[in-house]
Amino acid sequence: MRCLFFEQTSSIPPSTLINSQEMARSSSSSFFFFIFLSSVALCGLHSVAQAQLTPNFYSTSCPLALTTIRTLVRTAVLLQPRMGASLVRLHFHDCFVNGCDASVLLDDSTTIQSEKSAVPNMNSLRGFELIDAIKAALELLCPGKVSCADILAVAARESVAALRGPTWTVLLGRRDSLIANRSGANTDLPPPFFSLSQLTQSFADKGLSFGDMVALSGAHTFGKARCTNFRAHLNESNIDPTFAATLRPACGNSSANDNNLANLDVSTPNTFDNAYYTNLLNRRGLLHSDQELFNGGAADAIVRTYSTTPSTFFTDFANAMIKMGNISPLTGTSGQIRRNCRRVN
Ligand code: HEM
Ligand SMILES: *[C@@H]1O[C@H](CO)[C@@H](O)[C@H](O)[C@H]1NC(C)=O
Ligand SMILES: *[C@@H]1O[C@H](CO)[C@@H](O)[C@H](O)[C@H]1NC(C)=O
Ligand SMILES: *[C@@H]1O[C@H](CO)[C@@H](O)[C@H](O)[C@H]1NC(C)=O
Repeated sequence: MRCLFFEQTSSIPPSTLINSQEMARSSSSSFFFFIFLSSVALCGLHSVAQAQLTPNFYSTSCPLALTTIRTLVRTAVLLQPRMGASLVRLHFHDCFVNGCDASVLLDDSTTIQSEKSAVPNMNSLRGFELIDAIKAALELLCPGKVSCADILAVAARESVAALRGPTWTVLLGRRDSLIANRSGANTDLPPPFFSLSQLTQSFADKGLSFGDMVALSGAHTFGKARCTNFRAHLNESNIDPTFAATLRPACGNSSANDNNLANLDVSTPNTFDNAYYTNLLNRRGLLHSDQELFNGGAADAIVRTYSTTPSTFFTDFANAMIKMGNISPLTGTSGQIRRNCRRVN
């Protein structure tokens, strides 16, 4: 049973709010009122056990939420395109650790061992200040209504759309965690040295298919990586030697250069397009894990399709983002709506 009264009143036609057959059977207005009250009561009970994400979750409680997020993300991405990539990655790193619950946004404290300080995230994740600014705007607009986890999901969609990628309907109603999971961040986020079968397993562990994994990796069509994450790949066999040679000077072989950056997509670094896959065909994947998708294995055929048919990539990417956004959300009365995304209330 869905929680129609609380979540969907503005976008559902009135006739569907109350079972229309029951409506037709009775002409008594007190009967309608009885149905209304029972529905409200049942709604309260069932929202805990059966709550699910819906596109119009905020249409009554915060109708301007999505346009507010869109405006702030688009402005930031215009000023600095990489911000789009960073926001998409935040949503991914949130969802893969205890589900999409904004656990990634919690700062270290006496009670929280943050995910930010986990190996895959430290000196790497970015965009936190922009999420703070969006949250502050939404707290002024509709205090206590919009979760940090939903902000991440919508910001990821807006980032992709702002840089000429696909758009999709974001499902909403996630709530924010009371905990972070540092060890989960260290174990559940795939590292760049993984093989194709390890990558496949790490996505399968989150309920995502091989196809989802190949499509979602296309997010490496924008953004940057640090030398520490691709230096070893420069000396592997499955890389264009000319491409490797252009990257070596900045990277060197010393850990002093570990934080130097290179574009994940060497051809169109600030556009969400299918060039990531074309690069892979040319042995120009930046990370070992990228090139694993085109290294004589089962992903080769998908990479070829995406490189020739961008619309197929866009459709698959959008669907896979919706799936990823559905990983173990907190709903109903679980968790909370944080007032400040960096700490529990
Ligand atoms: C398939 C397994 C994946 C691996 C091994 C991986 C690994 C990495 C690594 C090592 C970096 C660079 C971090 C740094 O050097 O600081 C990176 C960046 C990035 N990743 Fe992934 N990633 C994977 C999947 C994904 C997915 C599923 C998404 C989103 C849907 C994503 C989005 C991004 C973006 C956008 C960046 C650039 C961020 C920025 O410039 O701030 N990645 N990834
Ligand atoms: C942290 O993540 C690990 C790996 O997914 C999981 O086994 C563990 O139960 C999580 N811990 C908490 C407290 O959620
Ligand atoms: C990679 O190869 C270059 C040039 O051959 C060499 O200078 C460098 O030490 C190697 N680096 C690693 C990490 O093996
Ligand atoms: C780094 O590589 C260069 C050659 O590319 C070599 O001359 C130098 O000794 C290496 N340094 C270290 C610390 O390995």
